[in-house]
Amino acid sequence: MTEATTTALHSLWSEAIPHGRFPVLVGEAAVDVAVVGGGITGVTTALLLKRAGLRVAVVEAERVGGGVSGNNTAKVTALQSTVYSTIERRHGPGAAADYAAGNLAAVERVAALVSELGIDCDLRRMPAYTYAFDESELPSVEQEAAAAAKAGLPVTRDRGEHMGVPFEVAGAVRLDGQLLIHPAKYVRGLAEAVDGDGSRVYEGSRVLRIEDGKPSRVHTEDGTVTAERVVIATHYPILDRGLYFARLEPMRSYCVAATLRSGTPPTGLAISAGSLSWSLSRSGDLLIVCGRGHPTGSSPGEPYEELATFAREHWDVAEVTHRWSAQDPTAYDNLPMIGPYTPGSTTLYGATGYMKWGLSNGTLAAELLTDLVVGRENPLAARFSPHRLTLGATPKLAKLNAKVAADLVGDRLKSAEVDSVADVPVGEARVVRDGTGKAGVYRDEAGVAHGVSLRCTHLGCLVRFNAAERSWDCPCHGSRFDVDGSVLEGPATRPLPRRDPA
Ligand code: FES
Repeated sequence: MTEATTTALHSLWSEAIPHGRFPVLVGEAAVDVAVVGGGITGVTTALLLKRAGLRVAVVEAERVGGGVSGNNTAKVTALQSTVYSTIERRHGPGAAADYAAGNLAAVERVAALVSELGIDCDLRRMPAYTYAFDESELPSVEQEAAAAAKAGLPVTRDRGEHMGVPFEVAGAVRLDGQLLIHPAKYVRGLAEAVDGDGSRVYEGSRVLRIEDGKPSRVHTEDGTVTAERVVIATHYPILDRGLYFARLEPMRSYCVAATLRSGTPPTGLAISAGSLSWSLSRSGDLLIVCGRGHPTGSSPGEPYEELATFAREHWDVAEVTHRWSAQDPTAYDNLPMIGPYTPGSTTLYGATGYMKWGLSNGTLAAELLTDLVVGRENPLAARFSPHRLTLGATPKLAKLNAKVAADLVGDRLKSAEVDSVADVPVGEARVVRDGTGKAGVYRDEAGVAHGVSLRCTHLGCLVRFNAAERSWDCPCHGSRFDVDGSVLEGPATRPLPRRDPA
């Protein structure tokens, strides 16, 4: 068998998620706070609210911990690539200091919850690094070291000699005491602590509609939760209000895990400072290499091959055992958005824009959302408000919205168009002219054609085929659909209509 047929097409961690542990929401439930989304943000928020004396219900579309929270790099770290130099440049040193304080506290909150709840999630303390893969990346590392230190992180400089990688790096900035965890086991452990004593966790229950009011009502296909407050922790906001869609850019990136014949995986949580970053970590004796990020809906090329090639060039790889991908929205001004969903709302809250550092930022968001819901002062509330005004960010905003406008009316897939389904090769997708319209058709390995409408059911942009993931991805706000049109990721909640063009 070739490597391609033996590689698992899911993350290392999603294997640990059982089916059917928590029930589907059926009928009516009433709680103080409904939390939409069972990832790290939702489940941590639910637990902290429960500890504050409130009854909560977590409503998850698929399996708790099975989304982005279980498909990432497993790093919980306050040192995050070149984030401090970016935030300092866009918002000034005060914002970088707030971000550092929030993320350092989040790392320690994760460690404390693991200890308090006795969660078996393979937690290890490790140093985190931002390293220069070659001399050209050294200035970025130096800027990051200065910005991170100014922000209050106890970073040190070294040459990466303790990263445990079999290649020389040009330099690195290091932060000790960060965490490597099994993210799915961690989130599941939190969910176990949420469920019970009047609070509930529901799985397999996709939220289709939210009525914001006093009380609010959260509707799934088979049930309704009535609650005084609603927290939308769906990673990408699913409600078309609050203008989030105009201010977020979804980015997708990829990971591979590999066994080694000899040598060992890295001993630190490392990411290179270049625009094509190489993110390195481990799980037990497995090497993990991540990167090759791109805006959702643009062509990824062959990201898994590139990551596997990098691994083989530097390590004695025996086999690539797993591959997976995930996406995360980045705000137009490079800060997370956490707070009231719409300006002044006291019933609806949300959190998004973690810039691919969701394990720490999701925990930070949970702390802040809990304070907002229970009415406690939080010094970070204004900084991360989704409704802040960021001076100087207008050009980025305009660029994002021009792209969405083009994706609503344009069709950049002309080169992949064919006249008939018969022209769609096995294992590939094409746009097929269908009367006066067009359909997206994928032909599977058994030769069966799967046709769907190309109009995203969220706000109508045209979806594109992602060959690496065999999915139809929307470039506007990151919704993803399988080859039969089922929703893989929101904000869309309805499937793409099936099309069976002749
Ligand atoms: Fe918004 Fe597709 S995700 S239009």
